[in-house]
Amino acid sequence: MEILNSDAIVERLKQARVYTILTGAGISAESGIPTFRGENGLWKNLSPHELASIEAFYRNTAIVNEWYRHRRDIIEKCTPNAGHYALTEMSKYLPTFYLITQNVDGLHQRAGVSDVIELHGNIMQNYCIRCGTRYNVQQFDEIYEHASRHIPRCDCGGVIRPDVVWFGEALPAEALERAFQAAENAEVFLSIGTSAQVRPASDLPLIAKKHGAFFIEININATMLSSSADLLLQGPSGEILPKLNRDLHRIISAN
Ligand code: OAD
Repeated sequence: MEILNSDAIVERLKQARVYTILTGAGISAESGIPTFRGENGLWKNLSPHELASIEAFYRNTAIVNEWYRHRRDIIEKCTPNAGHYALTEMSKYLPTFYLITQNVDGLHQRAGVSDVIELHGNIMQNYCIRCGTRYNVQQFDEIYEHASRHIPRCDCGGVIRPDVVWFGEALPAEALERAFQAAENAEVFLSIGTSAQVRPASDLPLIAKKHGAFFIEININATMLSSSADLLLQGPSGEILPKLNRDLHRIISAN
């Protein structure tokens, strides 16, 4: 069944040159990665709010490291799903394609998109709080194995932390700048699998809309942004995106 079944929408998508995509935890749910605000969002009865902050990290570095190690283990065992792969396909034929993600799991890259705007960092990267030296996951794990009290330290003595954005922290400036640009330039903006509760990522669809973009939301539930959407595609992104890709490909190649 076609999901782009209105002539007006088809015409709009056919004319569009710039597609900007924003993804959230929902796109990786079908890969087996728990969302933040879903049923499996707690770990040892602790919520991300109690773990993902610099205060939590200083208060209990070992526990926070254990949580990240647990999440990295889950992510390493997961593979991209049909939703990730559909976006990869779309990136190949859409005239201009920007992919912005709030996810730190790297699954878009593993599905074959090389240029991903990561707003919240990447869980496989780490850096020293004192001198900034970067550590990939293998280097980190090696240090972690031998670390006293599960607190990995750099050669300079500084504590090594995950390269992810925590509550209360600023987003990486370059990624944020690129994301705002991509939202402003968008002719079609897709928001996929995000509850749109965390700013500034949740501002991006509205910025795009203000600049004239056609706004499509894909989610299993309604969100704060649903009432602003020009097209709501309700359902799992792993099912909706392959259909959207098929329809879009047909429309664009008929151009
Ligand atoms: P949330 O956990 O807040 O929301 C996940 C969204 O995905 C919800 O709206 C679900 O309805 C939807 N969803 C779940 N399964 C889905 C599926 N199979 N297909 C489509 N949609 C599905 O996650 P985010 O919105 O990504 O920030 O959370 C945003 C940020 O909050 C995260 O990046 C994280 C957290 O604080 C930081 O760590 C800085």
